[in-house]
Amino acid sequence: MTPPKPGSLVSSETPAEARRETLTVIDNRTGKQYELAIKDDTIRPLDLRKIKTHDFEFGMMSYDPAFGNTASCISKITFIDGDKGILRYRGYSIEELAEKSNYLETAYLILHGELPTPAQLTDWGYHITHHTFIHESIKKFLDGFHYDAHPMGMLISTVAALSTFYPDARDIFDPESRRKQTYRLIGKMPTLAAFAYRHSLGMPFVYPDNELSYCGNFLNMLFRTTELKYRPNPTLERALDILFILHADHEQNCSSTAMRGVGSSHVDPYSATAAATAALYGPLHGGANEQVLRMLLEIGSVGNVPAYVKRVKAGEKLLMGFGHRVYKNYDPRAKIVKHIAYEVFDVMGRNPLIDIALECERIALEDDYFITRRLYPNVDFYTGLIYQSMGFPMTMFPVLFAIPRTSGWIAQWQEMLLDPEQKISRPRQIYSGYDLRGYVTLDHRS
Ligand code: ACO
Repeated sequence: MTPPKPGSLVSSETPAEARRETLTVIDNRTGKQYELAIKDDTIRPLDLRKIKTHDFEFGMMSYDPAFGNTASCISKITFIDGDKGILRYRGYSIEELAEKSNYLETAYLILHGELPTPAQLTDWGYHITHHTFIHESIKKFLDGFHYDAHPMGMLISTVAALSTFYPDARDIFDPESRRKQTYRLIGKMPTLAAFAYRHSLGMPFVYPDNELSYCGNFLNMLFRTTELKYRPNPTLERALDILFILHADHEQNCSSTAMRGVGSSHVDPYSATAAATAALYGPLHGGANEQVLRMLLEIGSVGNVPAYVKRVKAGEKLLMGFGHRVYKNYDPRAKIVKHIAYEVFDVMGRNPLIDIALECERIALEDDYFITRRLYPNVDFYTGLIYQSMGFPMTMFPVLFAIPRTSGWIAQWQEMLLDPEQKISRPRQIYSGYDLRGYVTLDHRS
């Protein structure tokens, strides 16, 4: 007897086998028994469809708001073990990449699956560097924004606008087109971000400097004033580069899911990236680093921490930068970020808010409320302190997340496009509204 194929469902009459990768389900409404194939510790909800009490019924579905226990794809990009605090890109540990790699190399790894050879890395760097300029008209869009427009709003809009400049981007199944849009997106994100920042300051835009590294050039476009040649501080340049490595991908988070979901309609990658950037903007996702700083400022002093934690425990507040859907242990990125913070403070001076942050962490890690809920610092808990020390305003923090995450988004998007099992993303619902009712004319409504 051939074992059931993944995705197939057989009835209870199937003869028993010694060991089967199946799950037996008994429907107590009918007494019928079903055997569902298991693969990778997973069953396919479509297999549930055959479970019904009458033939005319739609069949059983699974209900999983916020996808708490539903895999939406099979991916080879990023591995997370949230209980053990493990994060790997393409099999390489985040700790080793942060120590030995740089952002552009890591982005290549995430997108291509392998670390580049020296020739591939040179070629990759050349192409990214030669796609950093943006069309002059983008500057006109930026000029239209109010002086205090949030840079994430400007970034979302300008990334979306890129699609209008590159109609070839619609050719999403042409590998050459995808390659080109990848260069453009990774190359132009820092330029758009820096221009948004300069616009908010009312300062002239600084054009890319091809002689600098990816992060060095970004710092140049942000902070250069009258000097003829901007020379980034090597400690800050490396710190930013490591932060970019840490933020490059994080499997099926809210923004990657947005990228895949929107991309599944076969829209161009700029429009999908704008959607992913919008998802990242929220305070529960990439906007959390900004909210951590606001929270630390609100707390104001180390002495006020216990009172703040009390309010968190009473459900009045969230301890921003704490907790994670997947990590139920210390976020491995948070450990690295904490270390970088001190290196940046050595150059820029100690950020006084670090003491409030450390006290929050100390109290939280000893408190039953946080222990029982397995709430630990996530990557955002310390990044804001670093960014602030480097001279970034709070509104730029989520932007500093979006730039490196672009490589992860593109990798997730491409994997989705090339996966024959994927289709347009279209979840089901359980309808709980009214049954059919007659239209009430306006004069009969109270
Ligand atoms: N402060 C206080 N309580 C918290 C926090 C927090 N930061 N996070 C979770 N909890 C509590 C919840 O209230 C809940 O308590 P309950 O069981 O008594 O109802 C319990 O812990 C479980 O939390 P959930 O909300 O179910 O966890 P979920 O996986 O849905 O949320 C999230 C994860 C959104 C990250 C959440 O922990 C949170 O809001 N954290 C603060 C925002 C933040 O730092 N976001 C950045 C995440 S990292 C990133 O996106 C890069």
